Amino acid sequence: MQATEIKTATGKYSKIITDEDFTKFQNYFSEQKVIVIIDENIFDLYPFFRKFNCIKICADEKNKTLKTVENIISQLIELQADRSTFIAGVGGGITCDIAGFTASIYMRGLRFGFVSTSLLSQVDASIGGKNGVNFDRFKNMIGTFNQPEFVICDTNMLATLPQNEFIGGLSEIIKIALIKDSEMFDFIECNTDVILKRNKTILQKLIAKSIQHKADIVNSDEFEKGARRILNFGHTLAHAIERNSDISHGFAVSIGIMFAAKISKHFNLISNDDVVRIKNLLSNLGLPLHTDINDEILFRTIIADKKKSDDEINFVLIKETGKPFEKNIKISDFKYLISIFK
Ligand SMILES: NC(=O)c1ccc[n+]([C@@H]2O[C@H](COP(=O)([O-])OP(=O)(O)OC[C@H]3O[C@@H](n4cnc5c(N)ncnc54)[C@H](O)[C@@H]3O)[C@@H](O)[C@H]2O)c1
Repeated sequence: MQATEIKTATGKYSKIITDEDFTKFQNYFSEQKVIVIIDENIFDLYPFFRKFNCIKICADEKNKTLKTVENIISQLIELQADRSTFIAGVGGGITCDIAGFTASIYMRGLRFGFVSTSLLSQVDASIGGKNGVNFDRFKNMIGTFNQPEFVICDTNMLATLPQNEFIGGLSEIIKIALIKDSEMFDFIECNTDVILKRNKTILQKLIAKSIQHKADIVNSDEFEKGARRILNFGHTLAHAIERNSDISHGFAVSIGIMFAAKISKHFNLISNDDVVRIKNLLSNLGLPLHTDINDEILFRTIIADKKKSDDEINFVLIKETGKPFEKNIKISDFKYLISIFK
């Protein structure tokens, strides 16, 4: 068992525990009354949770909406949840985003924590206190910054994760390596076979490193005013892809990473060899590199999204593996970049 702390400047505290048995989650809060907001797949796969008051949700991006939140709130009222109730979100990124957001707004906020069950959620989504839902399929348009009191990442739960979801989670690990840790990138490159076989020791190492990097970034900038923006590497295009298709978040991030790498090369920040390394790594892990969604549709979605300011888009690039670089790109130039690099 290993614990990483998030302790932000505003005094928020969150404890992320890796290699903890998920059945111990009650040890991390003292409230008598707990309500579990749980992914229905996890409910079916892990009978342990049936002894609790559970609110089941279908973890589909299309359900990450205010309507689902309203539905959960009705059930919380039926279950007589009050300010002394603890909310445990149990599932992948979709469930943690929904559960964290609902807990943050119900009765002006209940205490909450997560059992994070997917690889993507363990290395990224459940960490850092961003909770929210989509609106009109615009990603995470409505949400809060509010830290879960604990996040339990039990690697044993990854054994039941479908292979495409496992591979999707690797894209967020590659993202963090590309913006924070070139040695980690080299390590992933040298270990693709064992990673794909879900070697537990290697996975634990990658999960712990990803969490540590994300915690460091969140500790320095909880509300995404500066340093935290680098976590959006690969995400501008990814969110536009998700809005216009059914492709999963992890796969969309992979395409977004490839796009950002090519643009980094376009501005002479990285070499062609770097682009080839990134391309080979993503494709060796079974991650996609391109999208065939129409350029104009992608462009229009991106400019309607929240990361644009005035006539420029704040875009995260890299200047070498492990080193992020933010650049404001003119919207008119961006249209051209989409047409050649998407
Ligand atoms: N809040 C943040 O900072 C943040 C960061 C990154 C991503 N996200 C969000 O996270 C979401 C993606 O997360 P995700 O990939 O975990 O999606 P998800 O929650 O949909 O989980 C993926 C699939 O795996 C299944 N699953 C999860 N854990 C399982 C397990 N242990 N065994 C068997 N099946 C399991 C789920 O039922 C689902 O079908 C997106 O909505 C994305 O926007 C949020």
